Amino acid sequence: MTYKNLLTKKSDGIGWITINRPDKLNAMNVETIGELKAAFAEFETDADVRAVILTGSGEKAFVAGADISEFVHLNAEMGRHFSREGQALTRSIENFPKPVVAAINGFALGGGTEIALACHIRLASETAKLGQPEVKLGIIPGYGGTQRLARLVGKGKAMEMILTGRMVEAREAAEIGLVNRVLPPADLLAAAEALAKEVIKNGPLAVAYSIEAINRGLDGTLDEGLELEAEIFGRTCATEDFKEGANAFLEKRKPDFRGR
Ligand code: COA
Repeated sequence: MTYKNLLTKKSDGIGWITINRPDKLNAMNVETIGELKAAFAEFETDADVRAVILTGSGEKAFVAGADISEFVHLNAEMGRHFSREGQALTRSIENFPKPVVAAINGFALGGGTEIALACHIRLASETAKLGQPEVKLGIIPGYGGTQRLARLVGKGKAMEMILTGRMVEAREAAEIGLVNRVLPPADLLAAAEALAKEVIKNGPLAVAYSIEAINRGLDGTLDEGLELEAEIFGRTCATEDFKEGANAFLEKRKPDFRGR
């Protein structure tokens, strides 16, 4: 499928999604949100795609937020709807059954940080700056930022970032666990690709079940999470991939996972 605000491509098992509104620093308008939902849905059912890399077009921005020109007229009811639409996208990325890597190539602000927070792994270029500047506009983060940022970096750092609206540079983002790793700009996409390829060598069901166990486990108590882990561990034991993975190890060969 072709999109107005995205560039997509597939190569070597990886689905690439590039948000492509560089003149607006890849700010996400409503149309872009809809296209992102469609692109993820397309890659979810495409057996040739085993991992997704999400990035932004141009050298300056990953995503500079939701498109401010579209939300100045929101009232309370429209605002709730606007927030839920963005949350539906970030939730679907978070629960995507294939690994999603964010390659943060520049500004990731507001919705840009929120969409990165929903990805499973975040790599950032040395030039990246992340932030939740919504309070500067008189609103709060609405695409999951108040919830996911605190879960990822802890309440104290999340409070500071959200209440000040201050941006953090890539290095600081790595120090607080907001991004996994920082790379020179020229190496970012290759590093994201190498990471995605490392993951997709593994059993695809085991990868999907790991995402499910981590996400669902963090929503409940430790005891509930451990119960869930045992349940999902049992599920993996019933797969052909588990037999193949264990046998390949014992036979000193590479596994041939089929996702069954
Ligand atoms: N929504 C809509 N348009 C945006 C945007 C956003 N979130 N972020 C940037 N743009 C647009 C600018 O309006 C400008 O468009 P124009 O050329 O038609 O005037 C273009 O992108 C370039 O941005 P500009 O502000 O000129 O670049 P800069 O280098 O001076 O500043 C930023 C870069 C990221 C610091 C600045 O654009 C900014 O603060 N953006 C808003 C970030 C934000 O608050 N996001 C959260 C929204 S909830």
